[in-house]
Amino acid sequence: MIRKIITADNSESFMNEEVGESYHSHTGGVEEALKKYAVPCKIKELAKTGKIKILDVCFGMGYNSAMAVSVALEENPDCEIEVIGLEYDPDIISRIQEVNPAISFFVHYKQLTPQKLEFKQGKVSVKVLLGDARETAKTLPENYFDAVFFDPFSPKTAPEMWQEAFFAEMYRVMKNSAILATYSCARLGRDNMSKAGLLYDDGPILGRRGPGTIATKWI
Ligand SMILES: C[S@@+](CC[C@H](N)C(=O)[O-])C[C@H]1O[C@@H](n2cnc3c(N)ncnc32)[C@H](O)[C@@H]1O
Repeated sequence: MIRKIITADNSESFMNEEVGESYHSHTGGVEEALKKYAVPCKIKELAKTGKIKILDVCFGMGYNSAMAVSVALEENPDCEIEVIGLEYDPDIISRIQEVNPAISFFVHYKQLTPQKLEFKQGKVSVKVLLGDARETAKTLPENYFDAVFFDPFSPKTAPEMWQEAFFAEMYRVMKNSAILATYSCARLGRDNMSKAGLLYDDGPILGRRGPGTIATKWI
């Protein structure tokens, strides 16, 4: 049902045959984690403030937040970082043991299993809330996160994740001026971000695909 693939940057990912999509873009999971999430969400700049709170929506194996933690610690080894991941599939969490992406902090993510969904490593804490993100997001505090990594399957296969109600939840939990980043530029997502009060713009382009989207809460 899910089989291992190697993406163009030589990092490992999986193809989900039921969904018909892979967990990372074919251009490369590691590159995507850096260029589509950590960089547009200004993780380096946030690290200078000494404290970062990241929401990793559709956590999967956690490449996106593991990259952000690596970037932040490189900039400021003393930075306090809290990562909350939302993921509903325990199987993909168990696959963390089967991959070794070139992301320095990822070795610590190996502590995560379906039975152990949180760990603390120095000043970094990581916790995965297991369940439908549309429900678990409702339990998160408001005005809390500096950055949101939004990485569901595509709007075509998983339109339920790209609805206004979910973006309204993201808006609620984001701090003012926090940034949400996603790989997709699809109309459905962008329109619903707008309806939820987020201001969007083009995100980075990777390979020959369209741009991603970055959206800000600005009040
Ligand atoms: C494109 S993959 C994300 C890959 C991930 N960012 C990584 O680094 O491995 C999408 C993920 O969303 C999860 N997912 C899909 N629908 C979900 C939902 N309603 N709630 C929580 N997770 C969901 C899938 O199980 C899958 O792991």
